[in-house]
Amino acid sequence: MELKHKIALVTGASKGIGKATAIAFAKEGCSVVINFKSDAKAAKEVLDECNQHSRGNVIQRADVSNEKEVLEMCEKIKQEFSHLDILVNNAGIFDENDNPTNVDAFENVFRNNLLSAVIVTKHATPLMREGKIVNISSIHGRLGHGRPSAAAYSAFKAALENYTKNLAKDLAPKILVNAVAPGRVATPMWGDPDVKEQEELGQVHLIKRMIQPEEIADAIIFLAKNDAMCGEIITIDGGMSLVTLG
Ligand SMILES: NC(=O)c1ccc[n+]([C@@H]2O[C@H](COP(=O)([O-])OP(=O)(O)OC[C@H]3O[C@@H](n4cnc5c(N)ncnc54)[C@H](OP(=O)(O)O)[C@@H]3O)[C@@H](O)[C@H]2O)c1
Repeated sequence: MELKHKIALVTGASKGIGKATAIAFAKEGCSVVINFKSDAKAAKEVLDECNQHSRGNVIQRADVSNEKEVLEMCEKIKQEFSHLDILVNNAGIFDENDNPTNVDAFENVFRNNLLSAVIVTKHATPLMREGKIVNISSIHGRLGHGRPSAAAYSAFKAALENYTKNLAKDLAPKILVNAVAPGRVATPMWGDPDVKEQEELGQVHLIKRMIQPEEIADAIIFLAKNDAMCGEIITIDGGMSLVTLG
């Protein structure tokens, strides 16, 4: 699929992987809908950067775990562009209180990391005649991976991967659905690690460094362009899963 002049919605695009992805789509000539939840200043900076590369970019604030707000966002997209070509379900959180029995953390992570993707998909797909959906999973979601202090995070990323495959079956051939499962990416989710912290956090990867958000955005652009990938999960974990599996 040629990306020039396509309309791309990236959820959670004020920071990290979403920010890099929004800018990458703008560099391809797309008009990007930059969704964010709370950081309007950061979203505006992303908009300014996107505007250096393409036209028609807009910011849309919406908490993607809130169906009413998502509906309003999608209505505005319909008014502005009449349709949507690409959806990246990127917005997500890590709950510091995550553990195997913390029910509140499970509900929080469920709403923000899985149900949010379902809600956005529900209201965005009626705007898509054809196109691509890319869900952002995590290496934690792969079978046997994750850790007890990320129990809810891992469980709902695993669920997101399963959802990706069933959604792919439901929406093909018009809309192709795939996912990317990153290892440790240097983003604000890790507290904006400095060079030394990145070096330490990157030691779990065979590549011995953290992954940069632009390296994940590359794979998202690939999936948006490719017309044969359907229901796949691309792992970009710097070899982390090979280390975990011994
Ligand atoms: N960083 C990693 O190592 C890593 C690894 C694997 C997978 N991932 C996944 O990659 C995705 C992006 O992670 P990241 O590291 O880039 O995160 P990040 O730096 O913490 O940024 C998160 C983004 O999501 C937005 N967001 C959070 N909850 C939202 C909601 N309910 N509604 C709308 N926007 C919301 C935030 O918006 P505001 O700041 O404006 O509120 C922000 O733009 C997540 O799904 C994460 O699970 C990350």
